[in-house]
Amino acid sequence: MERGPLETLIAEEIRAHGPISFARFMERALLEPAIGYYASQQVRAGRSGDFMTAPELHPLLGAAIARLAEETWRRIGCPQPFRWIEFGAGSGALLLAALAHLEREDSPLLAALEIEAIEANPFRRAELEASVAALPQHARPRLVQRDTTARGEIAGIVVANEFLDALPFHIVVGRTAAPRGFLERCVGLDASSGELTWVEAEPDAAYEHSLTARVQAHTAAAATLAEGQLAEFSLAADAWVATLPSYLDRGVALVIDYGRESGALRDAATRMAGTALAYSEHRATSDLLSDPGGRDLTAHVDLTALRVAATAAGLGHIASTTQAGLLAAAGIDGELQRLRSGPDATLEGALALRTALASLMDPRGMGGFAVELFTAGSPSDRMALSNPADPLPGTAAPIRRLV
Ligand SMILES: C[S@@+](CC[C@H](N)C(=O)[O-])C[C@H]1O[C@@H](n2cnc3c(N)ncnc32)[C@H](O)[C@@H]1O
Repeated sequence: MERGPLETLIAEEIRAHGPISFARFMERALLEPAIGYYASQQVRAGRSGDFMTAPELHPLLGAAIARLAEETWRRIGCPQPFRWIEFGAGSGALLLAALAHLEREDSPLLAALEIEAIEANPFRRAELEASVAALPQHARPRLVQRDTTARGEIAGIVVANEFLDALPFHIVVGRTAAPRGFLERCVGLDASSGELTWVEAEPDAAYEHSLTARVQAHTAAAATLAEGQLAEFSLAADAWVATLPSYLDRGVALVIDYGRESGALRDAATRMAGTALAYSEHRATSDLLSDPGGRDLTAHVDLTALRVAATAAGLGHIASTTQAGLLAAAGIDGELQRLRSGPDATLEGALALRTALASLMDPRGMGGFAVELFTAGSPSDRMALSNPADPLPGTAAPIRRLV
């Protein structure tokens, strides 16, 4: 079969330097300028794309997060400005739904809000900027870029919906005879066909120490990997969490994604093949190497590692719930009422809401997505944000039972 342009580039890199980690393969497959899966102009999310996310399905999640943002803002003393910092913001579906909710509710937060949208795809980013620019002036927050040189204190909310699962991960394979008990599953070239193929190798010296530490932290807390068992470890996700204090001084950080605790993710009885998948046209496949740049690559988020990294970065952990729990406890009953029977309600809108709710609340689907909430700020900020007797909107649902 003829090689695509990205496959050719990756093969050249392997020919020049030897097998590469899956994390490196994924970085190029997703983000290679102009031709990577998330770098090209082609629309990936939504019905006509490869996957559906909650904000693409319905504005309800945006309304719930707007409530959480507003209450966070109030509890830390209504700072001006208050920043909405969104990672992987796409073309802004979640942000625009949140802004629309704040406008409808005539929220005073709207006047204090500024937006920092972090989006790798220049086309989606331009769409987001155009949509914000088209908002009426009273409902149009300032778009800002991060100033890393001289910045004042930043109060706000960090939002990362289905972002962490798209960050590059390493794949390791349990090998009891190997000195570390595992080898890395790297990407090489088949000697006869020249096709991309899996090869097992010791991890590269550049990241060997961090990867070994992550695998060992997992095996110390849970179980060693079985012979031949595959497991993903995202050093990029750890590194992302470590950067959060450089974005936010006071407020909350909200992560929503499909994920499990470390032990459940790598349970040999159910997860011998790991969780990595490639997505195309709403279909998943475990063939990760074909058509780089043409498919989404993703794996479940390790929630245990996320909390460990957040604590190491100085963040406080205040809630673990699910997307269904967040929506149920976010206090958006008024929003539901409005969509069902408010003055602007339509039959189409009510039916769309019903269909969307079935997906958004489905415990085996998006409703079961993990929601992790962290705090940043002074001890009094943190107390105000994590009062168990008065939880933030969306966090009052029972703590998730993880399997
Ligand atoms: C699965 S989509 C989710 C989009 C949006 N958050 C939503 O829920 O609809 C992942 C998004 O993250 C962006 N992305 C992936 N890697 C990124 C990176 N390293 N930095 C910034 N954005 C990234 C992609 O371009 C894409 O828009």
